Amino acid sequence: MAIKGKITFPGDKSISHRALMFAALADGESRISNLSTGADVQSTRKCLEACGIQIEDDGDDVIVAGGQFSDPDNLLDCGNSGTTTRLLLGLLAGQGINATLIGDASLSSRPMNRILDPLSKMGLIAGSNDGKLPVTIHKSNLKGIDYHSPVASAQVKSAVLLAGLGAEGKTTVTEPILSRDHTEKMLAGVGAHISINGLSTTISKLKAQLNPIHITVPGDPSTAAFFTVAAAIVPDSEITLDRILRNPTRIGFYGALQKMGAGMDCLETWEEAGETIGKLKVFHLPLKGITITKDDVPRLIDELPIIAILATQSEGETEVRGAEELRVKECDRIYAVCKNLKTMGADIEELDDGFIIQGPTHLKGAEIETFHDHRIAMAFTIAGLVADGDVILDHPECASISYPEFYDELERLAQ
Ligand code: S3P
Repeated sequence: MAIKGKITFPGDKSISHRALMFAALADGESRISNLSTGADVQSTRKCLEACGIQIEDDGDDVIVAGGQFSDPDNLLDCGNSGTTTRLLLGLLAGQGINATLIGDASLSSRPMNRILDPLSKMGLIAGSNDGKLPVTIHKSNLKGIDYHSPVASAQVKSAVLLAGLGAEGKTTVTEPILSRDHTEKMLAGVGAHISINGLSTTISKLKAQLNPIHITVPGDPSTAAFFTVAAAIVPDSEITLDRILRNPTRIGFYGALQKMGAGMDCLETWEEAGETIGKLKVFHLPLKGITITKDDVPRLIDELPIIAILATQSEGETEVRGAEELRVKECDRIYAVCKNLKTMGADIEELDDGFIIQGPTHLKGAEIETFHDHRIAMAFTIAGLVADGDVILDHPECASISYPEFYDELERLAQ
């Protein structure tokens, strides 16, 4: 069996959430094509609808009628989605909305003080379950702040900037290492007053509504990473990824893969709506281990589970450090990766802030605990392609959080 063919992906999850939210703030009708098909983005859509924003399907496109937000009648259910929760907290705080946000068991165990701390410094009156969901926010008069975030997190940065759209004066966020910059790029594109100075971004209170958005969301590079690794580790494989987002803050994984020696040709790149997009060919070649440090992490944070699988098929040592944020994702991804890879026979050492893998290993089939985490489910399905015996996931359906078509597409390309 080899992995062969051409594949395009539904829209990038991070850009999809933001496109819906910024369209909701716009004056008039926005059209979004190739929106992410994952359940997380549906959570954002449903929450916005519950706050009075009209969103309709038009064929494969989504039409958003931007307008006034209103207090939701019911609890806002953010499902499994950290991005929905954290960005909405900032956005709704800036719009003076009273609301209570809830989520599933995984989301309800994730830290929200990283958002609530800066927002309360801005004047937001909020209550939480000891820094976790449910979180209730009350209409408050916000004022701009100069916030230095202790974590390199696009969710923190975006939440503060979105609150800043409704805060008196200017709001500045400085982060320790640059995280994904879609909020800055997209807000600048729809008329917000935003300026960037190194690691600091400053936004001013909105004087008029944003301009409507017309966007075809580029393919999700984090989803594409699973297929990329499949092609890199299964002998005789070659795939072409078309219309993939190539934003520099998102392609750390592709740089790492290149350093590991995978066959990779960038066939084409172009600019669209302020983002770089590309067409990429990936093929199997012998791989070698690499070191990933704290500075690399924000650009490949979501790809670390699949990088661990890649490392088991690479000659020598792969060391990942400075990735303690992985412990507060949809599950504790350091633990989940180490536990499951050990069951498959890999040589992996768990660190507080990452892991060390010695490769290559011949993986064996095993029962995998996904912890209901989409990226763990997809990463271990790919590991199964090179394992002796079957890989059996306890909850394969959780892949639909970001990519409902994952198993069908993998089957189509496996020849
Ligand atoms: C995201 C930011 C990252 C990432 C998540 C999506 C975003 O989270 O892991 O999948 O869209 O802003 P952090 O901001 O917590 O690093």
